[in-house]
Amino acid sequence: MSGPAALTVASAGPRLAGALAGRTFPRYRPLLDKAGTDPGVVALALFEGRDAIGLLLGRVAGPTASLLSVSVADSRRRRGGGAALLAAFEREAAMRGARRLAARFTAPRGPVSPVRALFSAAGWTEPARVSTVYAIDREASLAAPWFTRAQPRLRRMLIQPWREAGDRVLRLIGPANWCHEELHPRAHLDVGQDGAPQDYDASALLRAGPEPDAPALGWVVVHRIGAHDARITAVAVRPDRVNAFAGGALIAHANRALYESGVARATFVVRPHEARMTAFAERRIVPLGATVRESFDVARALPAVRSAAVH
Ligand SMILES: CC(C)(COP(=O)(O)OP(=O)(O)OC[C@H]1O[C@@H](n2cnc3c(N)ncnc32)[C@H](O)[C@@H]1OP(=O)(O)O)[C@@H](O)C(=O)NCCC(=O)NCCS
Repeated sequence: MSGPAALTVASAGPRLAGALAGRTFPRYRPLLDKAGTDPGVVALALFEGRDAIGLLLGRVAGPTASLLSVSVADSRRRRGGGAALLAAFEREAAMRGARRLAARFTAPRGPVSPVRALFSAAGWTEPARVSTVYAIDREASLAAPWFTRAQPRLRRMLIQPWREAGDRVLRLIGPANWCHEELHPRAHLDVGQDGAPQDYDASALLRAGPEPDAPALGWVVVHRIGAHDARITAVAVRPDRVNAFAGGALIAHANRALYESGVARATFVVRPHEARMTAFAERRIVPLGATVRESFDVARALPAVRSAAVH
């Protein structure tokens, strides 16, 4: 009886799109069509005999080569295929002049994920966490006490959808120098991560009162990822107005507006430096049975490729 065929790596291109497009995220699939003609795109296929069973996609821009996705068919894992794709990517990137490799990956919280183990085994840097994503579904959210009770407890303050504030949004917010740049609505006005458009009904301002010029004391910024998914990208409340309810009330507003418009599942993104929001998510969202995923950056320096020129 013969064993499995040997694994080999070769360049991938439009010809393999049918077999391999499912092995990457929808937003990267168009890169398979550009492979071979666009020198910035690296597409590598893993074969077992004649079967295409894995794909790695990357991009080279100047000295940095970014690994965008790597995936091997479930039934063919732990046989060295992932490591072979990664090694081929490193060689290809070096040949195209890159000096540094970088990747961002997302994995469920918990035991070490296969992709993390793969980078570690290949000598990449220790992963640095860049965000934590809490996903909460409609039923769990509606059952949460803070979801229903938070808003009335804000007393004189007002939560107002961005659409109602209209053009005045940035004026009402003012300089907001107490807020981290990444959380400022200016950074999220039209599109956020992954090019998702902002949802102007679910995004809202927390205002000092109902008067027309009452300033904004906080906000929630929400992006729609698709018809049924949305992401809460930024939540901020002015430090002197922080109490147990303001952040929760803004999130509750966003959740309610999203669910009313047909979203079944909202994700809540927190970056490591947002200590208060991390505490909120861990205390209020995790107990509702949220799924928690974490994104990490990893990198690796490449040795300079020796010049082949003869002097
Ligand atoms: C990550 C992935 C590509 C690894 O592919 P693979 O072919 O199984 O990897 P390899 O067999 O080459 O593993 C190389 C090394 O990585 C580590 N590793 C890989 N999977 C592991 C696992 N499940 N548990 C522990 N270590 C693992 C090991 O050190 C392994 O070497 P070893 O088998 O000699 O111990 C594969 O698990 C996968 O497709 N996962 C889903 C897709 C994904 O999450 N992609 C990342 C998003 S871009």
